[in-house]
Formats: sequence, C-alpha cells, structure tokens
Amino acid sequence: MTNQTFTPRVFSGIKPSGGLTLGNYLGAIKRFVGMQGEMETIYCVVDMHAITVWQDPAELKMMTREVAAGYLAAGLDPTQSTLFNQSAVAAHAELGWIFNCVARVGWMNRMTQFKDKAGSNAEKVSLGLYAYPSLMAADILLYHATHVPVGDDQKQHVELTRDIATKFNHDFKTDFFPLTEPVIEGDATRIMNLRDGTKKMSKSGESDMERINMTDGADLIAKKFKKAKTDPEALPETLDGLKDRPEARNLVDIYAALDDRTSEDVIGEYAGAGWGKFKPALADLAVAKLAPISTEMARLMDDPAEIDRILADGAEKARAIAEPVLAQTYDIVGLLRPGR
Ligand code: TYM
Repeated sequence: MTNQTFTPRVFSGIKPSGGLTLGNYLGAIKRFVGMQGEMETIYCVVDMHAITVWQDPAELKMMTREVAAGYLAAGLDPTQSTLFNQSAVAAHAELGWIFNCVARVGWMNRMTQFKDKAGSNAEKVSLGLYAYPSLMAADILLYHATHVPVGDDQKQHVELTRDIATKFNHDFKTDFFPLTEPVIEGDATRIMNLRDGTKKMSKSGESDMERINMTDGADLIAKKFKKAKTDPEALPETLDGLKDRPEARNLVDIYAALDDRTSEDVIGEYAGAGWGKFKPALADLAVAKLAPISTEMARLMDDPAEIDRILADGAEKARAIAEPVLAQTYDIVGLLRPGR
C-alpha cells in the first residue's frame, strides 16, 4: 500500500518503429497535447522499446526524429512539456533491470500484446520483446508518474506497472512508487483498421490502405477514406444502431475525434446520410486537420539539428527527475553506489 502523496505528473511514450498513424495521433499525441498545462507533462520517444524487434540503425535514428517532429507539429510545446528520447536517459534501462527482478514470468505470460506480436513464433522473438512491459513500467515509475494517457491497447501494460509498483513497495516495505492511473478517455482510444473494423489500425499492418499515416498527403488521405470498407446501410439515428457495424462506428469515431466532438453528436448531424455524403465530409475534415501537421513535420525534418537540440534539452530535464529516483531505488534495494 502507498500512503505517500505524489504530485500529479503525466508520462507517456511512442515507439519510433514505422511511421506515425492516425491511431497514434488521435489515441495518443492529440490527447498528450491536450493535457499540457493541466499538469506537468513528460513525453518520450521510446527508442529502446523499438529495438525489441529488428530496426535498421539509420532508419531508427530518422524515425526517432520523425516521432519527435510529430509531437512538435501537433502542438507539443517544449517549454511546457519535457520531450526526449528514452535511450538518452540511461536510468530507464537501469530501473528496467530492477523491475525485471520484481516482475514475475507468469505476469509476462499473460500479456496479450506479446502473444499477438510473437504469435506462433514465440521461441524466436527477442528476450527484450518478452520483458518489454517491465521496461515500460520503468519509463513510468522513474518519473513517479501518476497519469499515463494511452490508447486502449496499452491498458494491460499500465495495469502491470501498478502490479510492479505494488510488489516493489510490498517487498521493500516502502511507499516509494505511486500506483499510476491509465488515462483512456474519449472516442478515439481504439482507432480501427480501414479495411477491417475488427482489427486495430497499426503501423505494421500489411497494406498501406488500412491506415492513414501522419505523412500522407491530401489526395492519399481522401483516397483511403473513399476506399475504406463500410456496409450498404445509411448512418442510423443513434450510436446504438452502430453496435454491429464496426467499420461504420470507426469512421464516426474518427470524425468525432478529429472535430473535437462526441460520436453521438456526429451521428446526430449525419443521421440518415449515406456513405456518398459522409466519406467525402470525413476526408475533407481529415485533410483540414492533418495536412498542416504533416507540412509542419516535413519542415521540422528539414532541420534535424534543431530536433536534436530540443531532444537534448528534454533529456537533461528528464535526467534531473530520473536520476534521484533511481539513486533512491538503488538504496532501497541495497545496491551499493560507492562514490556517488
Ligand atoms: P505504440 O508506440 O504502439 O503507440 C503509441 C500510442 O499510440 C496509441 N495507439 C492507438 N490509439 C488508438 N488507436 C490506435 N489504433 C492506436 N495505435 C496506437 C497507443 O495506445 C499508445 O498510447 N508500449 C507503448 C509505448 C510505451 C509507453 C511507455 C506508453 C513505452 N513506454 C510508457 C506509455 C508509457 C507502445 O508500444 O505504444
């Protein structure tokens, strides 16, 4: 049990493996930006998570900058939030190791994302992919983060973070780590694949037509929504009418999230409309919202030294919080740090 009161603090991260999708934008980045100013916010490009599966080294560096550019282009203000890449703060790996010794193998075996990613190939994937959730717990707890905004697919990992904090506090008879809350709110916490509304939109899906990438141009965005799978029926009067229509529900949710409205509100406006009306409206809205972000991302990517400077400043701010937490953790665990 923890009795200590922790200052409200937000932490979240995105892997630089493959490009950013509309799922990352609506489920994560847009919500991260919205939390700026409400509490202290720390956002990370989690490059050490990316290497749990093979990454081309030059591409990884480029993608790390591109994810940082995505955050900045979407409105993250480095004077209000701390923005850095995970590998620049060594304490993540160090606390991750301690948590590998706290977390139980049985807990890892229950992680559905590992099962999905490893599939029938579980013997051949990296040990890092298996241990990934304890590094994620370290990311969060290194900052004593109280709130972690994530999409629905990360809920189990944040719950595991609470289990690790609870076991650590219990084993060492302390209240050092907080029990972090996942923040999974709104209609955009699970954006689905445009060709199959039962699957999540992801960076790694086989066809590019399944997803909107943050770098897609206006014509491609319009084409992808036009070709998105739907059903023959018009939009119903209420959200209940979309219960067994996953593709239709997804497009309504995307519209709502892009326009900062609820899905109910969108259904109210488009009740009875056919796809011939809804899809072009959605494509126009998406282009209006996303094109300025992708243009800004491209501008930022033209000056990688500036991105690196922002990340270096962020890493310094992050270290100032992380290093004392790590030092105290070493002390609690009984790891000697002579001379430090
Ligand atoms: P990652 O990189 O897969 O995704 C980054 C964020 O985007 C959200 N997201 C989605 N949200 C809605 N609909 C979708 N289709 C969709 N696809 C992705 C994810 O839920 C996530 O919030 N393990 C994490 C990264 C991580 C992390 C952390 C997150 C590492 N350490 C500490 C929070 C705190 C991951 O792989 O996210």
